Amino acid sequence: MACVVVVGTQWGDEGKGKLVDILAEQAQAIVRFQGGNNAGHTLVVDGDQFIFHLIPSGVLHEDKTCFIGNGVVIDPAVLLGEMEKLTQRGYNAGPDKIRISERAHVIMPYHRALDAAREKAKGKDAIGTTGRGIGPCYEDKANRTGVRMIDLLEPDTLREKVEQNTAAKNYLLTGYLNAEGILTEPVIEEYLEFGKLLAPHITDAAVELDDILNAGGNVLLEGAQGTHLDIDHGTYPFVTSSNPVAGSACTGSGVGVTRLNQVWGIVKAYTTRVGGGPFLTELEDENGQWMQKTGAEFGATTGRPRRCGWLDMVVVRHSVRLSGITGLCVTKLDVLSGLDKLQVCVGYKQPDGSVLERVPASLTQLAACEPVYEEHPGWSEDITGCRSYDELPAACQSYLERLAELAGAPLAVVSVGPGREETIIMADAWA
Ligand code: GDP
Ligand code: IMO
Ligand code: MG
Repeated sequence: MACVVVVGTQWGDEGKGKLVDILAEQAQAIVRFQGGNNAGHTLVVDGDQFIFHLIPSGVLHEDKTCFIGNGVVIDPAVLLGEMEKLTQRGYNAGPDKIRISERAHVIMPYHRALDAAREKAKGKDAIGTTGRGIGPCYEDKANRTGVRMIDLLEPDTLREKVEQNTAAKNYLLTGYLNAEGILTEPVIEEYLEFGKLLAPHITDAAVELDDILNAGGNVLLEGAQGTHLDIDHGTYPFVTSSNPVAGSACTGSGVGVTRLNQVWGIVKAYTTRVGGGPFLTELEDENGQWMQKTGAEFGATTGRPRRCGWLDMVVVRHSVRLSGITGLCVTKLDVLSGLDKLQVCVGYKQPDGSVLERVPASLTQLAACEPVYEEHPGWSEDITGCRSYDELPAACQSYLERLAELAGAPLAVVSVGPGREETIIMADAWA
């Protein structure tokens, strides 16, 4: 019996999906514990690409159960669409395979409308959200007015909540945000139908997970987004509305904290960010374009080009600290092949000359900082065929070793391509 948590250490899109798919092989259950369909997790299996937004990335393995935990916010239409696609591709997406926490909150049409209207109203200060209604849904959860999956199965409760919520949201949408209101009855009708379709999947996920652990099963907890998009620890307000740090794997799934064994942090060998917000090592030169093009850095959810820049170890080190990361999985190392020199940010220089080794809370203070770089020689070899650490070029090995040293955590995996097999595994998460 073991529990392993996978988290992103940067601003998302580090390659969590690929690693979860690999680690899932030895798990009985795979659980998403926060976020919603703002996430886009990509797997490439035998040359076929799959992008999951809500369904855990372990779903392609037979005989494993996938859970969508209470910490996730669910857009039922998106979930049903993902299940349908999986079924069409010959995979099981039935109620025995995909279990949904009855306590997970539901994204409603007024959440999407509010997300869009608020972003529009913010103009140049927009966060650059995915527009999926994530923030407004978590807002209602915290406000204790949210609709939960269980409510979709109780027509009277759903009606009461939707009536109260549409009245309040329409006041905001039409009276303040200059947007169109939402009709109540079609929402009730549509969501009752979603309830009927999803009913066989809805369960007390915490109880089922406890049973799996008590029977000796392994549980893999899949984080979404990245640590620096965390609402508490990220570059607030340019963050998402949940906690991608490992601590939230427990609150978002109902697995007790003493059950966790390992936390693996996914680190892209450079940095990307989608949407607005500070990004000290961002590159707008040919190196940035190289990463964007070679790494195919387009959002898996919105298709927006991802901003690219050098590896920022101040960011990664902070993530190791916040999640107690025990193993580093470095991804997309192949994308750097062919670059002559590589820069790694090791500190933030302030206007008075002092160097910060942590991310300051003040965005004003952060904006005044300049990255302190350490230069590393690049390598020109194609590394996508390497399957052991020893096969990697010496320059590649020293880049990785320095990364681990700066992070303060050991290397566990090196990923040299998007495919399942393009992976060098150096540690056993389940041991
Ligand atoms: P996630 O949100 O953390 O799961 O990451 P995304 O799926 O949004 O983005 C990662 C992208 O990089 C996907 O297109 C993956 O197929 C791809 N990828 C993952 N690992 C590697 C790697 O080692 N090398 C390359 N070239 N691509 C990778
Ligand atoms: P995965 O799981 C990258 C970003 C958005 C925006 C901010 C807030 O694939 O790594 P939101 O819609 O959550 O309110 O948007 O967070 N964002 C992501 N960026 N990867 C993600 O998920 C993201 N999920 C949200 O671009 O800047
Ligand atoms: Mg992604």
